[in-house]
Amino acid sequence: MDVRIGLGWDNHRLAPGRALVLGGVRVPCDFGFEAHSDGDILLHAVTDALLGALALGDIGMHFPDSDPRWKDCDSSVFVRHAAALARQRGYRIQNVDATVILQQPKLGGLRAEIRASLARLLELDEERVSVKFKTAEKVGPVGEGRSAEAQAAVLLIRD
Ligand code: C5P
Ligand code: MG
Repeated sequence: MDVRIGLGWDNHRLAPGRALVLGGVRVPCDFGFEAHSDGDILLHAVTDALLGALALGDIGMHFPDSDPRWKDCDSSVFVRHAAALARQRGYRIQNVDATVILQQPKLGGLRAEIRASLARLLELDEERVSVKFKTAEKVGPVGEGRSAEAQAAVLLIRD
C-alpha cells in the first residue's frame, strides 16, 4: 500500500466589493478576496495539498495567474483537476482536514454547506472532509481583517 501526505496553504488580501467564496460557497459579507481567480483560499489550499501529496508541483504551475484563462475563475476547476490527477494515478483520498483563518464574519453557520461543497468537489463522503475555522485573535494582517488564510492536509492511499 502506498500512502502519501500533502500540505497546502494559501492567503489572499481582503477588499470591499469583492465576493468572499470559501470551499465554493458564497459567504454573505461586504468584502471578499482580491485575487486573479475567485480567490477561494480553501480550495487553493486543498488543491496544493493534493498536488503536494502527488509531488506534482503547486497550483501556480498548473494554473499560472498570468494566464487570462484563470481570471476570475471558479476555483472548483483547480481542485477538481488536482483530484482527477490523484485518481488517474490510482489514489483515493482517505481524508481532508482544513482550517480557514478569518477574523470575521463567523463561519460556523456555513460549516455544513462548505463541508458538503468540498466533499462534492472531491467526490468524497462528507465524513472524510473536515473544515475548521479560526480567528487570528485580532493580531497581524489576518487579525486586522486585511487578509485571510487557509491550510489543508490530505492523505492519499493506493492499494
Ligand atoms: O479563533 P478562536 O479560537 O477564537 O475561534 C473560536 C471558534 O470560533 C472557532 O473554534 C470556530 O468554531 C469559530 N470561528 C468561526 N468563524 C471564524 C472564526 C472562528 O466560526 N471566522
Ligand atoms: Mg482561540
